[in-house]
Amino acid sequence: MRSVESITPAPADLSRPSTTAATVDARRPLVKLRNVHLSFGGNAVLNGIDLDVFQGQAVSIIGPSGSGKSTILRCITGLLKPQSGTIEVDGTRVDLLKSERDEIALRKRVGFVFQQYNLFPHLSVLDNLVAAPVRILGRDKASAVRDANALLEKVRLAHKAHAYPGELSGGQQQRVAIARALAMRPDLILFDEVTSALDPEMVGEVLNVIRDLVKDGMTCVLVTHEMRFAEEVSDAVFFTEAGLIVEHGRAEQLFHEPASPRTRAFLTRSLGNVQERVSRNGERTPVQFDLHKFAV
Ligand SMILES: Nc1ncnc2c1ncn2[C@@H]1O[C@H](COP(=O)(O)OP(=O)(O)OP(=O)(O)O)[C@@H](O)[C@H]1O
Ligand SMILES: [Mg+2]
Repeated sequence: MRSVESITPAPADLSRPSTTAATVDARRPLVKLRNVHLSFGGNAVLNGIDLDVFQGQAVSIIGPSGSGKSTILRCITGLLKPQSGTIEVDGTRVDLLKSERDEIALRKRVGFVFQQYNLFPHLSVLDNLVAAPVRILGRDKASAVRDANALLEKVRLAHKAHAYPGELSGGQQQRVAIARALAMRPDLILFDEVTSALDPEMVGEVLNVIRDLVKDGMTCVLVTHEMRFAEEVSDAVFFTEAGLIVEHGRAEQLFHEPASPRTRAFLTRSLGNVQERVSRNGERTPVQFDLHKFAV
């Protein structure tokens, strides 16, 4: 495996055209995993993960089921502790955190949105957004409500502020869950398969919200099976298999000229042989893998 340093694109190449230079500090990894090993009992799940997420980047992790993608995200939030290796979030050694207080402090800075929305069913949408900033961050209620209304605007749900989660569609609940994560003003947000429980017609509305966040320069790590979306929004893509990063690089390179036959086999299974190249302005062009290049 190539070292992370050798295949991470040069910092100057990482900024997105839609993000101002002031909001992107591409030189400083906000998240840094080095040689992370984690087993559950005798089952080795992470076998030496190296991963960098730079401030302002959108990074996708793709790979087969069981390859360790969710486990990587749970390590970043401190929910799981590896047996060896180091995990840093903005300079904090997450793998060394011992006290519950420090772990809670970390989780305030790292938003986590996953497949199940887990909204409080007895609270209105607005109160779902206000509860944690007031109780956990000690924000005053009036400013938390102001922020919550602005966030609902952002996820296009201002008209549902006083509805209850049970009155919303899955896609709407997921957008509330994203707004709730943003209400904590996190340094970065992790998304774990946030569209996989949704009906197809609701996937687009959730992806639009994430697309907007990425454009705003929010640091995002996405575990997703939405390959075309990953290609469109990601600055870097990591392909995992059997607890290893098999390959990582720029989205365009990884999706269209994968260096590893294993990446290519996975993409062929996921997308078929002919892919479309999706440019940032949404244009689609068919791209054929060079089959001979990978013949063994
Ligand atoms: N709490 C746990 N206890 C024991 N084994 C676990 C636990 N969590 C995950 N595993 C195992 O670790 C491996 C990796 O799981 P993980 O959830 O990270 O995979 P994934 O890449 O996210 O898969 P998927 O695409 O299906 O979500 C799997 O073999 C899984 O069974
Ligand atoms: Mg998973």
